[in-house]
Amino acid sequence: MLDTTVVHPLVAPSILNTDLTILGDTLRQLAEAQTDWVHLDVMDGHFVPNISIGIPVVASCRAATTLPLDVHLMIERPERYISEFIEAGADMLTVHVEATPHAHRALQAIRAAGAHSGLALNPGTPIAAAVELLPLADMVLLMSVNPGFGGQTFIPTTLRRLRELRAAIDASGSRTLIQVDGGVTLRNAQEIVNAGADVLVSGTGLFTAPEGLTAAIASLHAVRRG
Ligand code: DX5
Ligand code: ZN
Repeated sequence: MLDTTVVHPLVAPSILNTDLTILGDTLRQLAEAQTDWVHLDVMDGHFVPNISIGIPVVASCRAATTLPLDVHLMIERPERYISEFIEAGADMLTVHVEATPHAHRALQAIRAAGAHSGLALNPGTPIAAAVELLPLADMVLLMSVNPGFGGQTFIPTTLRRLRELRAAIDASGSRTLIQVDGGVTLRNAQEIVNAGADVLVSGTGLFTAPEGLTAAIASLHAVRRG
């Protein structure tokens, strides 16, 4: 899942705003479109003001596809559910640094349970909050909207934050990937990759692209850091 030799940005479509009654069809379509991962947004109505999917839907996705499942936990005290999500089939499990006083322990627990570890930062959280944890994080997810809803507009200050995080990771010598999540579209993908992103989450931007899902994913794959 974390083959860092790939030259193109990894694409992780978010199914948050899709029709969940046809989730199996969507997963097949994503596999045919050669997506890299599937991004699953878990919301608890506490950490974020919305409730979405949970463990049973992750398990259903696992049964329906071999695509890597990139599970983004927007829940309070995510450490309570790490083993359940990984047993359900999460390949990458991302927790928010703001959602627990024990992000260090949570990242260790994710790896110990056999998944890749992700650490997410809200738009208002200093990049410094991730630096100490880089050795434990396979990926840092930078939120480029306030989490809770799909279809929001990309917050432009994310680009400065991305450059800061890219520099910190490069200086640390770690191989931690940078994922950007929220308001990513075919129009802003180039500047997001230029600023240092390795993995692009996109929901509305992909699923409502006029050229269709397959061509939209191909367009994101064609972006090169320049
Ligand atoms: C927001 C979620 C995102 C979101 C992405 O809380 O974490 O994954 O669904 O959707 P778009 O691309 O529509 O912003
Ligand atoms: Zn997400």
